[in-house]
Amino acid sequence: MKKSLVVLAALATATMMAVPASADETKMVGISMPTQSLERWNRDGAYLEEQFKAAGYDAKATYSDNDENRQANDIENLINADGADLLVIAAINGESLNGVMKEAVEAGIPVIAYDRLIMNDGTSFYVSYDNYTVGTLQGQYVVDTLDLDNAGDKVYNIEFTAGDPADNNAGFFFNGAFDVLKPYIDAGTLNVVSGQTEFDAVATAAWDEQTAMERMQNILASYYADGTQLDVALCSNDSTARGVTQAIESDYAGDNTVLITGQDADEANLANIVDGKQSMTVYKNLANEAVATLDLAKALLDGQEIDGSIIENAGWDFECAYDTESYETSEGHTCPSFLLVPTVVTVDNMVESLVDIGEYTQDEDGYLHPAH
Ligand code: GAL
Repeated sequence: MKKSLVVLAALATATMMAVPASADETKMVGISMPTQSLERWNRDGAYLEEQFKAAGYDAKATYSDNDENRQANDIENLINADGADLLVIAAINGESLNGVMKEAVEAGIPVIAYDRLIMNDGTSFYVSYDNYTVGTLQGQYVVDTLDLDNAGDKVYNIEFTAGDPADNNAGFFFNGAFDVLKPYIDAGTLNVVSGQTEFDAVATAAWDEQTAMERMQNILASYYADGTQLDVALCSNDSTARGVTQAIESDYAGDNTVLITGQDADEANLANIVDGKQSMTVYKNLANEAVATLDLAKALLDGQEIDGSIIENAGWDFECAYDTESYETSEGHTCPSFLLVPTVVTVDNMVESLVDIGEYTQDEDGYLHPAH
């Protein structure tokens, strides 16, 4: 709803008295996505906009080029110029939106933190995939594929590449994977040759492919140039996995295939999986994430009390948990969260997991392409 409409409605009410309570006031939903340079956010923005419009709302998606000041500005405009009644925000930097969050709270605008938590107590709800589980799936894939429980004296060399420290998700992904793999590192079955096991050392600013590539090139030059085998590159998502894959293709002296993990089912990474360059990706169905967000937004805009019962009432055909404990917007202040369940995609199940559900198509050469 635009401000000007509010003023008009108020004037009309004051002068004519009998105007019905704004029967034709279409609610406006402002959608703020981080960037168009990473594949998924284009899909998220499009799905969200499409679904809100189909449900009868006005909706507008903005993309902020991974620039946190620009995102604050975009949100400011969604509030003031577009008259947003509700905001759906995937934050570039979870810590940097306090100014606009204050405005939203003062204007009574509910804010759904979408996929990435906003570290501000004004956040009404959080909708995401279970981020810690994303990491555990990557770690467990390594354990199972290399059969680490029966490795005997065999030692596998591994390097970690994590995400953007400004993104609250990145630590959850890394910790999930590391917690699964740590016992094997402690036992000596996995060897981190670079010694880089702390999140800060392995993080990738802005989830940038090039940055991930350069860091892996340095690691390969420093620790693997003598032909030392790299067995596993644990990458938190597909953009970093692409960078690491390029570094391995150009700078790796070893002769084995490196097990590379990812997340997001990006088109280029699915091609790498078909070609045997990447081993797996963790898939998060973005259409489902948008549906969960839409139903939650509807309930919020209708002024309903919201708790986990919305999950049963909405009749979703996907799994989702209501979690009031895992995510804190400030110390001791938790944000009620709706967490969907991620799945593992490999070359063996990609058709069944992605094509058969209508989210991707497969061409004659076996490569997958997003269907939307
Ligand atoms: C995360 C998101 C991932 C990945 C990454 C980089 O917040 O959960 O799916 O896309 O950002 O964009």
